[in-house]
Amino acid sequence: MNVKGLIADHLAPHIEGMDAKAVLGLLEYPPNPEMGDISLPCFKLSKILRKAPQQIAEQLKQNVAEHPMIRKVEAVSGYLNFYLDPVQFAGGVIAEILRDPGRYGSQNVGQGKTIVVDFSSPNIAKPFHIGHLRSTVIGNALVNIFTYMGYRCVRINHLGDWGTQFGKLMSAYLRWGNKDKVEQDGIDELLRLYVKFHEEAEKHPELEDEGRAWFVKLEQGDEEAKRLWEWFISISLKEFEKIYSLLGVTFDSYAGESFYNDKMEPIIEELKSKNMLEQDEGAWLVRLDEFNMPPALILKKDGSSLYHTRDIAAAFYRKKTYNFDKAIYVVDYAQNLHFQQWFKVIELMGYEWAKDLIHVPFGRVSLEGVSLSTRKGNVVKLEDLLTQAIEKTREIIEEKNPSMENKDEVARQVGVGAVIFSDLSGNRIKDIVFSWEEALNFDGETGPYVQYTHARACSVIRKAGGAGTVRMRPEEAAQHLMDPPSLHVLKQLYLFPEKVYQAMEKLEPSIISRYLIDLSQSFNRFYHECPILVEDEAIRNARLTLVQCVIVTLAGGLRLIGLEAPEQI
Ligand code: ARG
Repeated sequence: MNVKGLIADHLAPHIEGMDAKAVLGLLEYPPNPEMGDISLPCFKLSKILRKAPQQIAEQLKQNVAEHPMIRKVEAVSGYLNFYLDPVQFAGGVIAEILRDPGRYGSQNVGQGKTIVVDFSSPNIAKPFHIGHLRSTVIGNALVNIFTYMGYRCVRINHLGDWGTQFGKLMSAYLRWGNKDKVEQDGIDELLRLYVKFHEEAEKHPELEDEGRAWFVKLEQGDEEAKRLWEWFISISLKEFEKIYSLLGVTFDSYAGESFYNDKMEPIIEELKSKNMLEQDEGAWLVRLDEFNMPPALILKKDGSSLYHTRDIAAAFYRKKTYNFDKAIYVVDYAQNLHFQQWFKVIELMGYEWAKDLIHVPFGRVSLEGVSLSTRKGNVVKLEDLLTQAIEKTREIIEEKNPSMENKDEVARQVGVGAVIFSDLSGNRIKDIVFSWEEALNFDGETGPYVQYTHARACSVIRKAGGAGTVRMRPEEAAQHLMDPPSLHVLKQLYLFPEKVYQAMEKLEPSIISRYLIDLSQSFNRFYHECPILVEDEAIRNARLTLVQCVIVTLAGGLRLIGLEAPEQI
């Protein structure tokens, strides 16, 4: 049921030098129904064909073959407007949704292809803050969307588990730390020690050397250093896993930065043999002046590797292990340069797959205007945010629906949903100013609003006696759904596959969240204006069929962006 595609196929043979795909790109949805359902603006064509737009529209109108889906075609002020047959259209949409409800909008364009998604990737011994939430929810949504399009996805958590900061933390722990307190308070206590280290080091700079020395020990395999490092990791992972389980996010691999420690040597050798490495004051780097970028540092003066080097090694490892068609990195835009630099290094090494490495940047989160800083302890912990959202939902349920079963489960689904949805509601590249008030707002264009609309639709079906009782052929249901609110819902439903596809192409989950709000608003208008459980059996069944289609589409869309769709709230 792809009407735009159908029209493009119809038009292409009559437009010189354009195939159906090119025509498809020109088609638009007119802003109001008087101008048709789908329209071809002929202004761009006018330049290519050297004719007036209106003349092109009129000529095409003569040539368009008849089709049951197309009721009427008009050429008006340079536009060729198509009016669809509403019954055919409605019947087609319903049939498509109910044919295989769990798969509405899916495709198999990714069949046989693999995408590696590097996302979340928090740092060990530091709090999982709302900045990492963005990478986690955007990455998770992209994985869901790609999977729905037939791709095999590999989810990788590139943990920040290596670097001099671990030496500093060891030194801080051994000076001021206490085992029980760390066991009890976890990352909070590790963070406190880390912050204290920086405060003390301002007064006593020699501490920095001590920290560095501990990191060197770790690199050389010292037993005590290794034991502490592993302990920090296990404490952090325990907390991260709590959050992932609340969010419903899983990974195929937790191979973090340290995993590549023994995989960099061959790459450095290759860079040397290709004459790409240059020594500068003892450090080794790849010059990128030609590309207007500062050099990519590969090895420090003391021979230790860098974030860059580990990312390059990881890319080679992933290419070899998963043979990806694309590798995407969901990381905030502050790291734009980092990715541009090392992507370039791989390209210069002569690997054509460098073009398949894609950085998906997103905007930064500031806290009521002040940027977040782990060192200064200015962070919003995700766990606190999620817990508060769940509690608030619990209170609302207690007030509105105290007799509901599984209150805890639903409070989690909705509370967490609010947080995820608010993160995905704007274009990913936009900065976010975090405010507690907004994150815990459940009214207006929010996740709970969509979830609540879904639950409302489910309750209508329950009252009618369950999904099994609604049986009506799509063509028949269509006949009774010709009023404006129902038609509006049908048009929204029709758009879902297109939106999912766009979200994939633009790597932009907010296209789906925006869509879910539109569909919810459209459904709520229908719900208020068109009584559903009426006497007239035909109308009742037709409307119930429409409600069923809305349930399928809302639930499908929510799942794609990582929210659950409870049937009762
Ligand atoms: N751990 C890094 C950070 O918190 C993000 C890592 C992103 N992934 C990567 N392959 N560089 O900033």
